[in-house]
Parts: sequence; C-alpha cells; structure tokens
Amino acid sequence: MTARKKRVLTGSRPSGSPHLGNYFGAYKPLIELQDRFDFFFFLADLHALNGDVAPAQMREYSFDMIATLLAAGLDPSRGVVYAQSAVPEVTELAWMIGCQAPYGMLTRAHSFKDAQAKGLDVNMGVFDYPILMAADILMYDADVVPVGQDQKQHLEMTRDFAQRFNNRYGPLLVLPEPLISEELATVPGTDGEKMSKSKSNVISIFATDKEWKKQVGSIVTDPTPLEAPKDPETRNTFAIYKLLATREEAAVMAAKYRAGGYGDGHAKQEIVEKLKQVFGPMRDQYYDWLKRPDDLRDIIHTGARRARELAIPKLETLQQAMGLIGRPY
Ligand code: TRP
Repeated sequence: MTARKKRVLTGSRPSGSPHLGNYFGAYKPLIELQDRFDFFFFLADLHALNGDVAPAQMREYSFDMIATLLAAGLDPSRGVVYAQSAVPEVTELAWMIGCQAPYGMLTRAHSFKDAQAKGLDVNMGVFDYPILMAADILMYDADVVPVGQDQKQHLEMTRDFAQRFNNRYGPLLVLPEPLISEELATVPGTDGEKMSKSKSNVISIFATDKEWKKQVGSIVTDPTPLEAPKDPETRNTFAIYKLLATREEAAVMAAKYRAGGYGDGHAKQEIVEKLKQVFGPMRDQYYDWLKRPDDLRDIIHTGARRARELAIPKLETLQQAMGLIGRPY
C-alpha cells in the first residue's frame, strides 16, 4: 500500500528576465518537488499588486514566468498550476482569516516593517500580505510549504491564524509544515555578490549567445598572471561554472586552475559553452511558449478550474462552521 503523497503548495510573484540565481535558487528546486509531492503551484499575481507594477508589466511578467517554468520542466498535468487571481474563493477566505489575525502581530511582519523602514508606499496590500498568503495555503489543506528565510515568519503566522480559527470553529484547517530546502548555494553574480536583478550582476538563463558572452565577460577576475597556479575556490568564474557543470567537469576545471597556465578568460569561454548546452534547448522552448499566450492562459485556467473544484466546497464548509449564509449554490 502506498501512503498518500503529501501536498506541497507554493506561489511566486510574477517576474521577468530570469537569471541563474532564480533558476538554481528557486525554479529548479521547485520543479523537483513535482516528483515527491502532490504539487500545487500558483502565480501570486494578487500579491504583486501591492507594488508599483504597471498593467502591461504585470501581464508580461505573468506570461514570462509561466513560460519559464514550463520550459524548465513544470508539468501542469502532474500538479495544479494556476493563478491566484483565477480563484476568487481565496480572497474570500482571506477575509475570514483576517478576522482571526491580530493587528499587533501584523505590525510585526518583516515585510511590512521593511516597507515602512524604506519609506515605501505601505498600502493595505503590504499590511495584509501574510493574510492572503495564509489563505493561499489553508484553502487547499497544504501539508508542506517550501520557505526561504524571508518567508519563514509568514508561514509561522499562517499556522497561528489556522490555530486560532480551529480553536474557535473546529478543526477544519491543516497547519502547514515548512519545508526547509537543504542549504541551497547562494548563486554569486558577476561581481561576486548575491545575483540579483537590482544589482545588475546577473547572467540571464534565456539570453542570446552574444548577451551571454557579454554577461559572462563581465565576471570580475583578478590579475594573477596566467602562468601562476590558482586556487579555483577563490574564483568567481569557478563558482558559476560549478552550478552548470557535472561534478567531473568541475573537477577538470579545478585541476586546470591548479596546474597554472589557465586563467579566468579560459574559464569564461567554458562557461558560455555550458550555458548554451544547459539552457539552449530550454531557451528555445521558452520563446516558443511566449508566442502562444492563448495556450499559456489555457493552462492557467485549466489549473484554476481544478483548484476551484477543491476551493468551492472547502469554503462552503468553513462558511457553515462560521454560521455564514453563504452562496445560493
Ligand atoms: N510570499 C511569497 C513570495 O513573496 C509568495 C507567496 C504568496 C507564497 N502566497 C504564498 C509562497 C503561499 C508560498 C505559499 O515569494
């Protein structure tokens, strides 16, 4: 007898121009979850509304992200892939959860405090962020939620809200467990700092060969003479190559560095070749998907229909437990 697979659920705000940091730090580990879990993934487009995103950009980023994930191996037939905005029951649940959420606790959310500290526009969407996130998770009885450091507190709040709800209305909500990913290596950017779009130190996963050459060319190097033996572990080039290469290939490059007569320029050429090899086919698929926005929308809507098949009865159960009149169907 096989045990029921645990349900994993995660969402991601739409963003465009994916880079190695997104891929190795988020997308690849996300896609690997498909094998082990009953898999739910959604585009957190409603969460993204709390920032200053123009409608055209929202649209572009949303399609971009789905196309990226599909190209990278996301299989909508193996899980439920949808958009937050396509399942209205979730925002209804957010109201119910919000009525269990202490104001004081929300004022202590890092996301809210950071926005305030940075002097950003703190709208109710920023303040309510953890409530909508809790609704995303609790709606589908998710057992586990993969969380990075930045989302840990939000998940703790989700558990807290669910516990309060259950104490008051009965044991109806599943308290989700965090899934802490084994130490994912931080992906270094071309300047050696963490790769991030805001720092302009990225290597894109879907660039043209020419752009790759340019981005890889900008990896900072040090002026050790070419003939000198070098420690690969101190090279930014090697750190990036290691992400792309097999263990054996990485060992070969390490040996070349140690032997001397091999420099960062050589390593950069090898990185460009690896990028073509690893991301070339994925890149073709990505551009192919982008030419078919209707198909992308269909995928999202198909997933949303499946999500709603679960969300509608769940919401009804909760409404009844709360003594609400509920819907006429
Ligand atoms: N808060 C997540 C982020 O900023 C996105 C998100 C929204 C999410 N709802 C979620 C993640 C539910 C996991 C589960 O990236």
